[in-house]
Amino acid sequence: MCGIVGYTGRESVTDQILDSLELLEYRGYDSAGLATLNGQTGKIKLRKCAGRVNDLRGICKKDKKISTCGIGHTRWATHGGVSDENAHPHRCGDVLLVHNGIVENYEELKDHFMLHKELKSQTDTEVVAAVLNRLYQGDPHEAIRKTVQYLKGTFALVIMFADQPDIIYAIRNVSPIVAAYSGNGTMLASDVVALGAAAKQYMVVPEYMIMELHKDEIKLFDLNGKPHQTEFIDIDWDTTRSGKGNYPFYMEKEIMEQPDAMKATIESRVVDGRIDLSADGVPDDVLRDCERVCVVACGTAMHAGLVAKVLVQSKLNMYMDVEYASEFMYEDPVIDDKTLVLAISQSGETIDTLEALKYARRKGAKSIAVINVKGSSIARESDYVMYTAAGPEIAVASTKAYTTQLITLFLLVGRMAKVRGIFDDAAEKEYLKNLLQAPEKMQEVLDQKYDIHKIAREMLDAKDAFMIGRGLDYSILLEGALKLKEVSYIHTEAYASGELKHGTIALITENTPVVAVVTQTKLKDKELSNIREVQSRGASVVLLVKDGFDLADAEYADVFTLPAMADEFMVFPASAALQLLAYYVSMDKGLDVDKPRNLAKVVTVE
Ligand code: M6R
Repeated sequence: MCGIVGYTGRESVTDQILDSLELLEYRGYDSAGLATLNGQTGKIKLRKCAGRVNDLRGICKKDKKISTCGIGHTRWATHGGVSDENAHPHRCGDVLLVHNGIVENYEELKDHFMLHKELKSQTDTEVVAAVLNRLYQGDPHEAIRKTVQYLKGTFALVIMFADQPDIIYAIRNVSPIVAAYSGNGTMLASDVVALGAAAKQYMVVPEYMIMELHKDEIKLFDLNGKPHQTEFIDIDWDTTRSGKGNYPFYMEKEIMEQPDAMKATIESRVVDGRIDLSADGVPDDVLRDCERVCVVACGTAMHAGLVAKVLVQSKLNMYMDVEYASEFMYEDPVIDDKTLVLAISQSGETIDTLEALKYARRKGAKSIAVINVKGSSIARESDYVMYTAAGPEIAVASTKAYTTQLITLFLLVGRMAKVRGIFDDAAEKEYLKNLLQAPEKMQEVLDQKYDIHKIAREMLDAKDAFMIGRGLDYSILLEGALKLKEVSYIHTEAYASGELKHGTIALITENTPVVAVVTQTKLKDKELSNIREVQSRGASVVLLVKDGFDLADAEYADVFTLPAMADEFMVFPASAALQLLAYYVSMDKGLDVDKPRNLAKVVTVE
């Protein structure tokens, strides 16, 4: 969490940094700050405030003098509340510093270096700045090297020294930093999206290497001062796609981009009408020889894993676990060299997922990461990577990342079925034919967004809501409920509909909104009778139902008909409808859809 930016070059830095920070606000938006160092006058300006980057922009408007070197930060509070003092950058003597991560031993360091009197904030970050300042005797490398040897925890540190004009220093452990030549200078950021439209290639700063950004050069050194080659990767995301376009919120734009993102995710993996993962480098024997599959992931990505579990069990007749990455290694999971671990993550930086993956690999498991952000930590840690082609996802609530994860998992399961001799050519073709229809079926739902908007208007006053379904319907409702609660603040529970009567049905009262999804032929009759059970307790039921299903004569508050596909592929149109529902409820409640309270998009703390 937290977003970091740095720029040194020939252009004015303030707007450049503010624009990039805005693109990083998805990583946290409790406070924002900016420090510039004027190479000619040696003057330092430090501006920071609780609130959004836009508030910081207001403060910076008064600044007249132009600087061409600076660092910025947008914060998700961990140590210390949301306040001006706790905002980054922190300045201690000659050191200006921004930080992403958590330094676990900051209290010990305070005592060890007797820093109590000089600290103005409650943050772990200011402690690091103070230690660095203590150890700084004019040699930045020596001070950085000595400082990081004291640190326990995760960190991306970006530093300016008052007497080192036009140079920015950076070092990291786990938390990401990428860098690029950009806009007549060089730039670093927590994420590629913030590197500026001029950047064509980027590099991932290796852990425990010191990076120096100069106006014309990016240099890397190990902790012994030995220079290292910098390796660059092409930026193949269209960074202009990171704008909102004509949409009021990124979330709507990203929902609408799904059919294209899904097509792009499929197309590179279909060769001569067959699923082909050779471009991903995933060998068939890994898919053939594993005896069990285990997903480690968090939040939405974990929900994508739950859909895959239903597929793996039904198509491959294989045992599969889906674990919260944050719980995984504390539960003594049964993992061995016959286990295939799938680490699913949009950002590729979620620390719980990263640590769970490392744990599984130590136990001998093979691993495939399903990732959206190229070169991210989880991608680098995994044996193989399948990238989703979602492009930049800025809204905190995941939408296109989820559906492209689903597409990728469907492709993986299809290939596994083939190499394990479960699919013959005809079965593979039929499976792929259905998958290829998913984008257009989703588009049909998106084309009816105004009908879903009408349904959303009926839910604005709800305090609690339920979402009920069975089998795959239940799996996607877990994600639908997460979407609704995180962006609308309506407490929403997804329930396996047959389970309600074992306790939770006590919460259903007159007019409780219940969203029911009915798309699975073999479960339809049971799902419909579960719906009647809640209706008899007064619930107001919105039904999302597969086209062609006979509803008998029951009455519903609203019915939305989902375009029909083979049952297991109904997750695609149904997900789109649930995403739109959450989006419109949030928008009509006047909430900040893209930046729900208390959240950050990239969760780099355990
Ligand atoms: O970047 P990741 O996919 O690893 O993030 C995991 C979760 O934090 C994430 O999926 C989160 O649940 C969604 N943004 C919620 O919409």
